[in-house]
Amino acid sequence: MRTQVAIIGGGPSGLLLAQLLQRRGIDSIVLERKTKDYVLARIRAGVLEQGLAGLLEEAGCADRLHAEGFSHDGTLIAYGDEMFRIDFKEHTGTPVIVYGQTEVTRDLYEAREKAGGPIVFNVEDVVIHGADTNTPHVTYTVDGTTQRIDCDFIAGCDGFHGVSRKTIPADLRREYEKVYPFGWLGILSETPPVSHELIYSNTPRGFALASMRNENLCRYYIQCSVDDNIKDWSDDAFWDEFKKRLPADMAAKLVTGPSIEKSIAPLRSFVTEPMRWGRLFLCGDAAHIVPPTGAKGLNTAASDVHYLYNGLREFYETGSADGIDAYSANALSRVWKAERFSWWFSSLMHRYPDQSDFDQRMQIAELEFLRSNKAAQKAMAENYVGLPY
Ligand code: APR
Ligand code: PHB
Repeated sequence: MRTQVAIIGGGPSGLLLAQLLQRRGIDSIVLERKTKDYVLARIRAGVLEQGLAGLLEEAGCADRLHAEGFSHDGTLIAYGDEMFRIDFKEHTGTPVIVYGQTEVTRDLYEAREKAGGPIVFNVEDVVIHGADTNTPHVTYTVDGTTQRIDCDFIAGCDGFHGVSRKTIPADLRREYEKVYPFGWLGILSETPPVSHELIYSNTPRGFALASMRNENLCRYYIQCSVDDNIKDWSDDAFWDEFKKRLPADMAAKLVTGPSIEKSIAPLRSFVTEPMRWGRLFLCGDAAHIVPPTGAKGLNTAASDVHYLYNGLREFYETGSADGIDAYSANALSRVWKAERFSWWFSSLMHRYPDQSDFDQRMQIAELEFLRSNKAAQKAMAENYVGLPY
């Protein structure tokens, strides 16, 4: 087979890139290791920056987002007996949209199928060949048969555990990682949200987050130990602990119910450089991971797609390679800012096992400063709603 762009990975990065290219008449083939249902069963975050919403509009996949997503003009931060609001509208004029990543992925699959764009599921043994030449190709097996795709470019959108990053010679790669000494225990419950805006809560018992998907579907998280086992956390145990980490007035009106999904996720910051090697370009989790505190995972994957899509479009429409040659630098510049914000917000809102009293007072002083200082709130709001592309 031959295509212009071989896309490895049928997650949100790969599908968004494929859809944007398709609308500019640029062909691609998406290779996905799992089934569509498996990909859609993964519960991920749900706060979208305007940049991502704009790309979904350009990709013709924003109708349901606008019909069912919630526009949030602010968020709430709680610590001790304090709770204050970061007003995105006041500080940036820009809201965020609360709409599940699973729904974004579902909309992208629908658009891809409607456009008749090829997706090959259940692929195995994906190997990238000749990425450092002008005639790369990809081989893979499906149903036991080996297939080959010749292409101009390869987009590695295959997440942290994919093959693309590892295809870049180790001596050319520089990797940065920070593993946090705690995880997030998250549940999904068909209950009305305790608050119409998200609540990020720092308590002596640890962090908690109250988020939502719709008027009757909540996504709640508590900081837990990395050694915790999901079996140790009954729904009742979760609700008891969650209540203790909410401001009293919120806890009093919390509606509880059975969880329909419950999982523990580790927290990690990770970046690999460069994000390009010859004709291979890394996007999203294949190149970087952020702790979920700042809701930057999907949004930073989207900015990668923005730079790569525009670079490829420029290449095919004008012959200029300027955009693709600047891809790694442009993408990494925004990635590191998202990494910094996610690290800063995680450090501010979580309790560390080895935290000293002085560290603790530093957190409180930083929260006090954020609560009382407009410039600090503006900086947080600008990062939260999304820095310009
Ligand atoms: N061949 C084909 N597909 C693969 C391979 C492979 N060797 N390895 C992994 N994949 C697929 C995975 O099954 C997955 O569906 O690549 C896809 C990668 O999708 P994601 O992990 O969702 O990564 P990305 O599309 O970059 O989306 C980033 O996902 O994890 C969240 O917080 C993260 O929100 C961010 C978003
Ligand atoms: C979520 O809704 O799952 C969510 C929201 C905000 C975050 C992280 C996760 O910071």
